[in-house]
Amino acid sequence: MAFPPSFLDELSARNPIVEVVGQYVRLTRKGSNLFGLCPFHAEKTPSFSVAPDKGIYYCFGCHKGGGVVNFIMEQESLDFLDAVRFLAKRAGMEVPDDGARASGYRRQERLWALCKDAARYFRAQLFSPAGAPGQDYIRRRALSLDTVKRFGLGYAPNGWSGLLDAMGEKGYAKQDLLDAGLAVKSDKGGVYDRFRGRLMFPIIDVRGSVIGFGGRVLDDSKPKYLNSPETVIFNKRKNLFALNIAKKSKQGRIILTEGYMDAIALHQYGFDCAVASLGTSLTEEHAGILAKYTRQVVITYDGDAAGQNATRRAIDLLEKTGVQVRVLRMQGAKDPDEFLKQYGPDRFRLLLERAENHVEYRLDALRRQFDLTADDQRVAFLRQAANLIASLPSAVEREVYGVRAAEAAGISPEAMKLEADKAYRQRRAQARRRQAQKDLAPAAAAQPQSRELRYENVRSAMAEEGVLRLVLKEPALLDACRRLEPEHFSAPLLGRAYGLLRAQYEAGRPVGLGSLGEAVTPAELGHLSAVAQKTDELVSEQALADCLAVIDEEYARRQVAGAADLQAFHRRLQEKKGYGGN
Ligand code: UTP
Ligand code: MN
Repeated sequence: MAFPPSFLDELSARNPIVEVVGQYVRLTRKGSNLFGLCPFHAEKTPSFSVAPDKGIYYCFGCHKGGGVVNFIMEQESLDFLDAVRFLAKRAGMEVPDDGARASGYRRQERLWALCKDAARYFRAQLFSPAGAPGQDYIRRRALSLDTVKRFGLGYAPNGWSGLLDAMGEKGYAKQDLLDAGLAVKSDKGGVYDRFRGRLMFPIIDVRGSVIGFGGRVLDDSKPKYLNSPETVIFNKRKNLFALNIAKKSKQGRIILTEGYMDAIALHQYGFDCAVASLGTSLTEEHAGILAKYTRQVVITYDGDAAGQNATRRAIDLLEKTGVQVRVLRMQGAKDPDEFLKQYGPDRFRLLLERAENHVEYRLDALRRQFDLTADDQRVAFLRQAANLIASLPSAVEREVYGVRAAEAAGISPEAMKLEADKAYRQRRAQARRRQAQKDLAPAAAAQPQSRELRYENVRSAMAEEGVLRLVLKEPALLDACRRLEPEHFSAPLLGRAYGLLRAQYEAGRPVGLGSLGEAVTPAELGHLSAVAQKTDELVSEQALADCLAVIDEEYARRQVAGAADLQAFHRRLQEKKGYGGN
């Protein structure tokens, strides 16, 4: 950790948590806290809270929590350092220089600048006489001028050093272009442009920086698409094409496509929520990022075998994040781009609505897992299909898909209905049981259930939590804690937090969880935020004294128990020796 504490304090002060979170979450006030829908997991009722006085957020549903820096780390998928920079930029603050890290960042900044300049160069080329082949291609693919501009498309002319020369004039070194993946080194050591004779698609991250490119040939040569390699600013596992635009969409879903041209065509036809994974299959990171921006993902991969495999993988990854997953299948066209050209946006919108429940897709996938000519397999299919159908909320849908599954398995619709009704009743009963349990234990549901942290000495830990809450509310109470040392805590994390807060206080800094920086991990900060968000005791010296008394008492008891253990141990040792001696 290299940032001076005063810097982190100012960073927190100048980025009020309500303001920062408010840019992503619609918050409503309830008492001293604000509530909204959690941006980190899909939910319909708000369990995400922000406590402005404490400078923290905490979700009672997914148990994520922390200060403003942590929020940005989660929300923008940034590491600690980049989140700090993000907030510094937001508040117009200088980030203090810290040697190695800063020089790494300067390297990134240079490559961002270079990629931006390169995008400008490619665009200028497209609109120059040298760009005629590119313009021609754009017309053939029916891309509008507006689309070309919105996506910053460009053209890389067919020479070997057009970009190298132009960027050289701007002061970039060959090494810069190599590091940005824009140039390649030949075996003989010469350096030449990576992208030649291609239509260029800038890849822009969610913060708006150009981080790489895709380039398409204008004819049938191979490879059809060339992408920037991984660089210090371009990580394919974490970035999706057009997400910088789609994240602002109001359409309530994200359409996931396989290719640049599919995403772009969708945007051109008004579907401003389309993104594309970048020549790789969807990763766990992608899924997590998508879940941050939307509650529903519609997959529109190609219908070929590779596309269907990728669809299944994507469904699994996305379902784990809690977003609704839908699958859109097209007939009569290979991909969304071709479909839109052939049938227009209204037909596509219809497909999109129909994709709303992807039962058909799942039934189909299920059907293919079984050999329906064999009786035992038909029975197995029937069971699973019944389960799937029972999960549908609408009776009409259950009816329709029940008949369809029955047809597929070659059984009577009545038999299918019996099976599906049975599965449906089981599900309902299960749901009722679960709800009853929840109703019985509302308090328990509101308690953080951090799996990482189980208290060994619950009585002491509750008092320790109390101390933290009290001093967070009223730091001056720390004056009354002179005798309490972090070692007296039974829960190491709470003790550590106490030590850190006391250090803040003694240094004359504002006392808060939000500016603990890297002294605690995100998971630990999540737990501490949960502690801070539990119902508050009245703030008083007496309340503090009560907590201190419990901690003291339990500490003394542990010491005695420890000493007794030690004595017992010594006794056993002595006895052993005694036996040995005889
Ligand atoms: P497709 O081959 O399905 O092409 O590749 P497409 O999207 O239909 O492209 P058009 O319509 O012919 O222009 C889908 C995606 O796979 C990656 C690219 O990201 C592409 O958008 N890809 C494909 C490559 O990275 N390299 C290739 O050589 C081909
Ligand atoms: Mn295509």
